[in-house]
Amino acid sequence: MESEFHRIKRLPPYVFAEVNAMKAKARAAGEDIIDLGMGNPDLPTPQHIVDKLCEVAQDPKAHRYSASQGIKGLRKAFVNYYQRRFHVSLDPDKEVCVTIGSKEGLANLASAITGPGDIILTPNPSYPIHPFGFIIADGTVRFLPYVPGPDFMAALDRAVRNSVPKPMALILNYPSNPTAMVASLDFYGQVVDFCRHHGIYILSDLAYAEIYFDGNPPPSVLQIPGAKDICIEFTSMSKTYSMPGWRVGFAAGNRTLINALTRIKSYLDYGAFTPVQAAAATALNGPQTCVEETRQIYKERRDVLVEGMAQAGWIIPSPPASMFAWAPIPEPFKHLGSLEFSKLLLTEANVAVSPGTGFGENGEGFVRIALVENKHRIRQAVRSIRTFFGNAGGALKNFDAKRAAAS
Ligand SMILES: Cc1ncc(COP(=O)(O)O)c(C=O)c1O
Repeated sequence: MESEFHRIKRLPPYVFAEVNAMKAKARAAGEDIIDLGMGNPDLPTPQHIVDKLCEVAQDPKAHRYSASQGIKGLRKAFVNYYQRRFHVSLDPDKEVCVTIGSKEGLANLASAITGPGDIILTPNPSYPIHPFGFIIADGTVRFLPYVPGPDFMAALDRAVRNSVPKPMALILNYPSNPTAMVASLDFYGQVVDFCRHHGIYILSDLAYAEIYFDGNPPPSVLQIPGAKDICIEFTSMSKTYSMPGWRVGFAAGNRTLINALTRIKSYLDYGAFTPVQAAAATALNGPQTCVEETRQIYKERRDVLVEGMAQAGWIIPSPPASMFAWAPIPEPFKHLGSLEFSKLLLTEANVAVSPGTGFGENGEGFVRIALVENKHRIRQAVRSIRTFFGNAGGALKNFDAKRAAAS
């Protein structure tokens, strides 16, 4: 009987699994591991949103199948948010689809629009669903640099000139997971002009739209005039309102793509549970002080991490947005590579981070540090890493000896 399934064979072993297994083992042995590995927001959902969920859940009518495109009240609340935040007008019926988290939307859109061998362009390193949504759908992925600037534009131009068939879609994700890079409107303008000219769809993932620091809200690609001709943008309730487990996100923009997503979803699901959608509408329509508080918390954590690590001799660029720091491996450890360095931090400092290679080959040389423990725990992590750096000679010698013996 077949056990090597075609799509499963296209999925490489999960790089994070090795660190996760070590983390679980250390915890089982009673170690206190500070987990800055997974990007799982730790803050509670604001109370007024939870209250709305409970209230609507009391209504038996809300227990039925919901609408796969999303309930109208939520689509309207989302349209008002885009108008308020980006000055972008959207038609709630033709240009918006509620998703069961933005990850679901990305994956289902990929399977709706991709034919075997279609070429998709995505920055590397990237959030894994960006390439793998398309790989699962039998597409072919070509990588671009991740810094939103001239090298990106040059690589995009090369990709279009050298790919047969011509690429059909480009993924953008700024603020980026894992690199925390942000894009300017000027950059979006250049990419939209280029892709409109070449007939390439743009799929923008704006999951970190509201997690920004230093007073610079990230723009939406849909702000570019004419963007709706080719762009769809995904946003999420998971980070903005600390609702990762609720599974609500949105797709908005180009009508053809929204129609494709809505149609495939109508075959696959009945939408998120109605009380979840009603509570999401309350979140978007209600007071936004909770979002400002969330931003402040991540900013404080960021500052504790970046300043503390700098004192320990680890210079980490301060992320302008997202809930991640993209940290170059310090010089004495560089030759270990990101997976071995992550394992060493875990065993020697009891701190879990994500190896950069888990996000693609160009993530080598970096680790991703998620700001998902409170600032006291982050301070504890900094102290522990500083102590480890101070005594790293032995650990490094051990590692080098083991590697020499193995080769
Ligand atoms: C860039 C990016 N996009 C999408 C998601 C998934 O968000 P959701 O919870 O809406 O599926 C994440 C989650 O970590 C993310 O980092």
